[in-house]
Amino acid sequence: MSTIVDDNTTDMAMEETLISPRFYTTNYKELDKVDVSSIRNEWDPLIKEMRSDPNKKHFQKTSAWDDFDFEDLEPGLRKEFIDFLVSSLTSEFSGCVLYKEMKRQGNNEDICELFAMMARDEARHAGFINDALREANIAVNLGFLTRKKKYTYFAPKFIYYATYLSEKIGYARYITIYRHLEKNPSARFHPIFKWFEKWCNDEFRHGEAFALLMRTDPKLTSGLNVYWIKFFLVAVYATMYVRDHARPEFHKALGVDIDWYDDQVLRMTTEISRQVFPIEIDHDNPKWMIGLKRVRKAMLAYGRAKQSKSIIGKLKLPITALNLGVAFARLYAIPAKKNIVPQSVRLQPIY
Ligand SMILES: [Fe+2]
Ligand SMILES: [Fe+2]
Repeated sequence: MSTIVDDNTTDMAMEETLISPRFYTTNYKELDKVDVSSIRNEWDPLIKEMRSDPNKKHFQKTSAWDDFDFEDLEPGLRKEFIDFLVSSLTSEFSGCVLYKEMKRQGNNEDICELFAMMARDEARHAGFINDALREANIAVNLGFLTRKKKYTYFAPKFIYYATYLSEKIGYARYITIYRHLEKNPSARFHPIFKWFEKWCNDEFRHGEAFALLMRTDPKLTSGLNVYWIKFFLVAVYATMYVRDHARPEFHKALGVDIDWYDDQVLRMTTEISRQVFPIEIDHDNPKWMIGLKRVRKAMLAYGRAKQSKSIIGKLKLPITALNLGVAFARLYAIPAKKNIVPQSVRLQPIY
């Protein structure tokens, strides 16, 4: 076993930057009032599938878990890979905390059962990543995180938009890496990637549940809410773009071109999101990629100013914040494409 001792891992998960994964809380009472009877014919089969718990035995280290030593990785790659694991774990666990609380606070049988099953899945996902981290003698203290990490309040409709997208983008990310490594097994530098295929089907199902929840009330995907949907699409996509581009060594080791990978993942997410969103990002508009790059540059400058200890650095904070706001607004201003949502919501993970 490796001997890296790094007690900063929990600190990494505690980090509050613009792109670090957050913990959320919502109005559980309002969520408890959701009536799924209008979508019952699509709801019941999904719940039945989740009840059957297809991944019950999946998150265990079997003989497929090859020997691995973190110390065999180049320091740059090791740092980025640990960052990838911690950031994934924080996202997984963030879902677990949010979903579990619904089960605790609600009385609505349909909603509580769904959220309990999603919490079950996310707890497994987070636990499995922590198992992988333990091999480097490091792990994130999840109890500490639950108590001490800052919670961001989102009204239920914002939870729907944000969580729907993060579940579907999570699916798209995991399946894209998995398919790539299927074709290029020599780049699979850690066994955890072998678990991604079945794993991402959980995320796909969670996304399906939020798509159905959004269909219970047509107002959620029409009128002024369309502007909010666009806001979340742009924010979630830009965050992923910036976060991935901060890990060049990790993507190099996987043999993945980051621009190709992000484009692939975002287009896949857009294709899936046609099941419920009345608009979609126009990936073919050349301004989109230019705008993403501009947001990344502005975010890096803002991050540097924020971390700076010098007075000059601190003075740059307002201007870099303004630049970031402008860069985001320009990305937001790129016209979205209209989409006519299909009669039935449900999709299958066919990618
Ligand atoms: Fe998950
Ligand atoms: Fe999930």
